[in-house]
Amino acid sequence: MSGLYDRLAMYSRGDYYPMHMPGHKRNKALLSMVNPYEIDITEIPGFDNLYEPQGILFELCNRISSLYKAKKSYPLINGSTGGILAGISAATNRGDTVLVARNCHKSVYHGIALMELTPIYLYPEFSTEASINCGIFPGKIEEMLITHKNIKAVIITSPTYEGIVSDIKTISKIVHSHGAVLIVDEAHGAHFGFDPRFPESAVTLGADIVIQSLHKTLPAFTQTAVIHCNNHKLCRRLEKYLAIYQTSSPSYVMMAGIDKCISLLEDRGRALFDDYYCRLVEFYQAIKQLNNLRIITKEILTYNNIFKLDPSKITVLTKGVLFNGKPLNGHQLGELLLDKYHIIVEMVARDYVLGMTSIADTKEGFDRFANGLIDLDKELTIGSMSDHNDYIETIKLFQPFQAMTPYRAMELETEVVDLQSCQGRISANIITLYPPGIPLIVPGERIDQEFIEYIGSSIKEGLTVTGLIGDNKLIEVIMQE
Ligand SMILES: Cc1ncc(COP(=O)(O)O)c(C=O)c1O
Repeated sequence: MSGLYDRLAMYSRGDYYPMHMPGHKRNKALLSMVNPYEIDITEIPGFDNLYEPQGILFELCNRISSLYKAKKSYPLINGSTGGILAGISAATNRGDTVLVARNCHKSVYHGIALMELTPIYLYPEFSTEASINCGIFPGKIEEMLITHKNIKAVIITSPTYEGIVSDIKTISKIVHSHGAVLIVDEAHGAHFGFDPRFPESAVTLGADIVIQSLHKTLPAFTQTAVIHCNNHKLCRRLEKYLAIYQTSSPSYVMMAGIDKCISLLEDRGRALFDDYYCRLVEFYQAIKQLNNLRIITKEILTYNNIFKLDPSKITVLTKGVLFNGKPLNGHQLGELLLDKYHIIVEMVARDYVLGMTSIADTKEGFDRFANGLIDLDKELTIGSMSDHNDYIETIKLFQPFQAMTPYRAMELETEVVDLQSCQGRISANIITLYPPGIPLIVPGERIDQEFIEYIGSSIKEGLTVTGLIGDNKLIEVIMQE
């Protein structure tokens, strides 16, 4: 019987093209390594220690910080997740209040629970046209900071999964003028700042702590990421928490992967980004032939809540499009791309599919994606938006009543109940649609009928709902007195 390794090895010999992370895209021409067993060591003499770096890993930290122009930087081997937990812990004390964009990844909510924080939520603008969450208005942050004087830190995601970038420079000025700390989850923006045709990174726009997943948008192994600290007062605390939340046996193979990614950017970054941008321009030019499917561009998002849009994310909208006379959803488009063209996209949502690109994408990969879309488009027709009325937004952000803090909810006794009978109960779990892993409900929040219906319809549509229990999709709630 073949196991995981055999399955992966066989898959690697196939012709499926990854329009998804990791950003190395399995591109062996760009990156290669010796057999990983040959370099898989532990902290033997000469190879330093990740948590007290003095030698080669200290040099790696310095190379990362000088590449990204950060005061201090640290490699992460537990993804952005570990960095987010450490960043939140470094910037707050137990019981503090934080201002959080509600479209943050679940790791932010875990950090909030671990530090026993009280979250106040900020809601991004929503584009009904594109069915995505947009940016965070600096003015909204200011309003909240004026209303709630005790906010210790502000935590936002920029760019979003779909590449929407908020105005970090203005936001950081506002946050600092109120004496708070700005943490930016830039997990999807590790490629920012290397080429002026891509958005600038929050690292150089005034954020105190910035977390980036190298593995998402750059050529690096899954789980590898970096955290940057621009606020000297927080660095020592951050170092302490990084050693708490990450393994005490960091993989030298992964750290070598980080080193290789950084070397590639140091040595060939300019040329690689130049080629990459040209391939993106060619792609966007080619898909101008689409008559039915639409790609999210700044022109589609005609709202002033879009500060910048990252061109590396290719979001293909299916809203208003018919296939065989019936509304086409993101799921079906994802399946058509897979079956007919062997293209695997990063994410399928109700109204769109999302392709992730990077400097490691080949011309053949871009061409296959563009030609696949153009080809499929010929089989589609335009319906009306009302054909899609049955579909609710993919990434709905509910505004449930917060009955208690996430921390309090996580320490109380719980019970498991049927989804249909949980109205009015308090959730004990984070429930998300995955991807993107943005919580629909957080521990401590009251469940209402709208939420129950939304989860029911998401399950029916075959979307992946995480946080429910067992095949019967039960929900864990706080035990009633
Ligand atoms: C916005 C955002 N932040 C953080 C994370 C966690 O990143 P990682 O997988 O590197 O731990 C993700 C993962 O998808 C994400 O989308």
